[in-house]
Amino acid sequence: MTQNAEREQWGSKIGFILAAAGSAVGLGNIWRFPYITGQNGGAAFVLVYIALVIVIGSSVMLAEMAIGRKAQLNAVGSFQKLAGGLWPVVGWMGIVSGFTILSFYGVVGGWTIKYFFHSFTGLMAEGLAGKAGDVFGAFVSNPTLVVAYQAVFMLTTIWVVYKGVGEGIEKYCKFLMPALFLILFVLIARSVTLEGAAKGLDFYLRPDFSKITGTSIATALGQAFFSLSLGMGCMITYGSYVDKQTTLPSSAVQVCVIDTLVAFLAGLVIFPAVFAFGVDAGAGPGLTFVTLPSVFAMMPGGMIWSALFFLLLYIAALTSAISLLEVVSAYFIDRGWSRPKAAVIMGFLIFALGVPCATSLSGAPKVYGKDFFDAMDFLSSNVLLPLGGVFISLFVGWFWTNDARKEVTNEGAHGFTLLEVWIWICRVVAPAAILYIFYTGLKW
Ligand code: PHE
Repeated sequence: MTQNAEREQWGSKIGFILAAAGSAVGLGNIWRFPYITGQNGGAAFVLVYIALVIVIGSSVMLAEMAIGRKAQLNAVGSFQKLAGGLWPVVGWMGIVSGFTILSFYGVVGGWTIKYFFHSFTGLMAEGLAGKAGDVFGAFVSNPTLVVAYQAVFMLTTIWVVYKGVGEGIEKYCKFLMPALFLILFVLIARSVTLEGAAKGLDFYLRPDFSKITGTSIATALGQAFFSLSLGMGCMITYGSYVDKQTTLPSSAVQVCVIDTLVAFLAGLVIFPAVFAFGVDAGAGPGLTFVTLPSVFAMMPGGMIWSALFFLLLYIAALTSAISLLEVVSAYFIDRGWSRPKAAVIMGFLIFALGVPCATSLSGAPKVYGKDFFDAMDFLSSNVLLPLGGVFISLFVGWFWTNDARKEVTNEGAHGFTLLEVWIWICRVVAPAAILYIFYTGLKW
């Protein structure tokens, strides 16, 4: 563990917030959140999700940011420096999660690029002919093509991480995040004014609590961890580039609010459109890539809406993928590797790990009934991330408590009204809730 004399830093607080929000806002918000909400009954699920974000998500986010800023190191190095013992294992779990998540994330990232271009070259005609499902099936079962797009996506990711914290991640996120918001608002305006949109709004906004089960709560928790980029050291790593003047509680809250807002807004794009054109809201992972093209095809100017949507998805995926690669690269950079070397080598290894994932959709063998792709998704969101969250909370709540108090108040320079509430959430509420939800709701 060598500490960099001049560690890279964010250029401004807003740069940090946008980069952290860029990490959080991703496929999890725009692709995963709506279909999971669709499968779990709509509005009631959204409320459970929001409650979990407020109580558990924001607390774990603050815990991670505090650990990273104090240690000024990557996820493993932070635990080594602040505690030693077995704690660095938590950081290692994070690095493994980063590897796992980015390997399948890169595959879906590739799909977004393919669909962006395909919007102009026939996707609309296929959607209109009711063939969007077949086309998606044919695409994902063509390994060469899927891997080629995955490679393009990974190259753009590697490029930004290669450029560094300020000149790469911050610079691109500062431009991409506002672009994302702009596109999102244009798409919402289109979607909610479609004829028949009200039925979708009703499904999405009117809660029916009979739909809430142990499994759906566990799903909401896994989704919260995934969507907020928690439990794997991502916010530890980004926190390590934050200066000592930045106030962490307000940063954590801002990132949670932006992330939840984007997920919520993505639902406002998708459900009105899906209901207006009578397609199935519970269609699962295919919702975005199968049903939406058909929906766009039926709208005037569909080509433009489709291209805009997949561009939005690409931007969201890219700024998250960057953070996943950064978690892994930061470990090696802190060990003395040059940034370009870490970004390129790790990016390539993750790409290679993603290849079986990319090809698993063409009928490869299943892992206990799930294909490789679903297995990776399940393991990371429903197991590794919440488990990481338990350890991070316990660390702050029981072992590093006084230093944590100092770190989140900038050594007492800033008041933080909910300080003790936060400590107790880390100490008992978050670990107990996560473990309980785990125990009752975890179904492979
Ligand atoms: N938060 C990202 C999303 O919603 C995914 C992610 C998970 C990124 C964990 C970094 C760490 O898509």
